[in-house]
Amino acid sequence: MLIRHGEAREFDFHGLRVADYGATCEGTASVATVEVPAGGRHRFAYSSRCEKLYFVTGGTVQFDVDGVVYKAGPGDLVVVPRGDVFRYANWWDESAKMLLVHVPAFDPAAEHVLPNEIRLHDVHVRGKRIALRPMTENDWEHVLAWNADPEVLVWSDDTTEIRPEEDTKDIYRSVSRFAFVFIIEDEGEPIGECWLQKMNLPEIIEQFPGKDLRRIDIMIGRKDVWGQGLGSDAIKALVAFGFEQDGADGIFTLVSPKNLRSQRAFRKAGFRQAPLEWRGEVALAVWREMSG
Ligand SMILES: CC(C)(COP(=O)(O)OP(=O)(O)OC[C@H]1O[C@@H](n2cnc3c(N)ncnc32)[C@H](O)[C@@H]1OP(=O)(O)O)[C@@H](O)C(=O)NCCC(=O)NCCS
Repeated sequence: MLIRHGEAREFDFHGLRVADYGATCEGTASVATVEVPAGGRHRFAYSSRCEKLYFVTGGTVQFDVDGVVYKAGPGDLVVVPRGDVFRYANWWDESAKMLLVHVPAFDPAAEHVLPNEIRLHDVHVRGKRIALRPMTENDWEHVLAWNADPEVLVWSDDTTEIRPEEDTKDIYRSVSRFAFVFIIEDEGEPIGECWLQKMNLPEIIEQFPGKDLRRIDIMIGRKDVWGQGLGSDAIKALVAFGFEQDGADGIFTLVSPKNLRSQRAFRKAGFRQAPLEWRGEVALAVWREMSG
């Protein structure tokens, strides 16, 4: 049997160019090609029927599969198991191409695209002074303002360049799929944000097989309250939640070597230097057996 290029059904899927060769082998598989233009992305989704195999034939694509991030280039194969929440994006300048195999054959009725908004949760945590409450889509006013302050960004992101608002929203929305994302409040007023996220870096996960690892990222957007103990209070509250209620074995953070205030705040919450490096960042970790 030969299915010619011209016979594939071509269509646009949210900016991705798909050519579907249809079901083969009596429906046990189907094949398509996907072109992901520069800046193109597939929304978070999952299939209740199919395993998906993406074979990259050109360019680079960043995948997020069940909360773990992979950068895939030509010749790499990304496997998305049935039921796993995933997305992919091409953050690079060159268009990317992939061969996609669905096992069994693709069925649109089994594909579920998730809402493009912050995942809600109902966890509330109290520190000595601060309170952590779920971040929602109603918090953009504060969160976008903090992310538009170069004096904050230079510490949180090592840049003073302000991202477009939609890109900032995309970060919180996508992280929230695999994290508890919080607003930090002091006396009822929002002063910052933080999250406890499933560890997303394969380089770190591989070094600790069988361990349930998480990471914390934090930003106190109100720079007038830096250095008053609120950051370490929030970190301690997140660590207690992670170990006592959410089953974490180890919690990491990655900090710029220049960010001594942040390193100190994490050390005050029990974090110590981890025996690894990640792209020039200082990796600090706290382990369940060390905490308390
Ligand atoms: C990092 C951050 C969360 C820490 O919160 P915070 O409330 O300021 O921290 P704390 O007051 O709990 O602890 C800070 C500690 O660092 C110390 N510190 C402040 N500036 C310092 C410096 N330049 N060098 C060394 N220590 C410093 C403080 O004295 C304090 O230690 P102490 O209590 O022993 O005196 C907050 O400052 C922040 O959000 N900054 C901007 C964004 C950012 O850096 N995010 C983290 C990215 S990894």
